[in-house]
Amino acid sequence: MADHQKEIEEFGNNDDFWLFGYGSLIWKPPPHYDQRVPGYIEGYVRRFWQASEDHRGTPEAPGRVVTLIDKAHWDTLTDHHESTERVWGAAYHIPAHHAAEVREYLDIREINGYSIQFTPFHPAASTSASILRHTTCSVTFDTHSAIRCLVYIGLPSNPQFLGPQDPDALARKILESTGPSGENREYLYNLEKALLGLSRESEDAHVSDLARRCREIEGREGGGGGGGEIGEKLQKVGSTEEVE
Ligand code: BEZ
Repeated sequence: MADHQKEIEEFGNNDDFWLFGYGSLIWKPPPHYDQRVPGYIEGYVRRFWQASEDHRGTPEAPGRVVTLIDKAHWDTLTDHHESTERVWGAAYHIPAHHAAEVREYLDIREINGYSIQFTPFHPAASTSASILRHTTCSVTFDTHSAIRCLVYIGLPSNPQFLGPQDPDALARKILESTGPSGENREYLYNLEKALLGLSRESEDAHVSDLARRCREIEGREGGGGGGGEIGEKLQKVGSTEEVE
């Protein structure tokens, strides 16, 4: 078995693991985590280039959610937005006694076109001792060292991957889409707000620009603003809401 395949087969079988969230996982945590750490990964670019038929859209009218594009691949594409060095998000520690259950929850290998990868995660410099002091978690980490994290990525080979999108058309698509998890614009606005709350450096220009375009269109043409429910969601430690 190839090393990467073996790693995927074995994660969560017996041991604890860390999961990196760069989309809805930032404000909608996985169940049973005992530690949440803001920080970033490198070598990827976050984009609203993944079609969502099951959460923020429908098979007939798919919405748009984020995926990560390998930076080396992104460099070969023509994009409207600049890339950033870092993809900010939140890492969650899943203790060993919940690892199998959370692994099942995350739906192993593929959730709606997303595949598993492992990548080094860097805790934010501001992830101070306060997290360590207040945590009841059994693990501690060195804020200067990278943590190996599992991450779900919608690879360019998956059928939901759309590739580069015109920002105005993308904003309009987000505004008109809705699915079982709610309005697509709510996902965008929640993501923008959650990113701004992670650190002073964690704004994502692609996300902020799309949110600005959506608000501008809403202001011009009406349609009501998307809300934010981040604080409320983050209180729900051990939430069992479906990951999207
Ligand atoms: C997330 O990071 O929030 C995420 C990414 C892919 C699939 C599900 C969640």
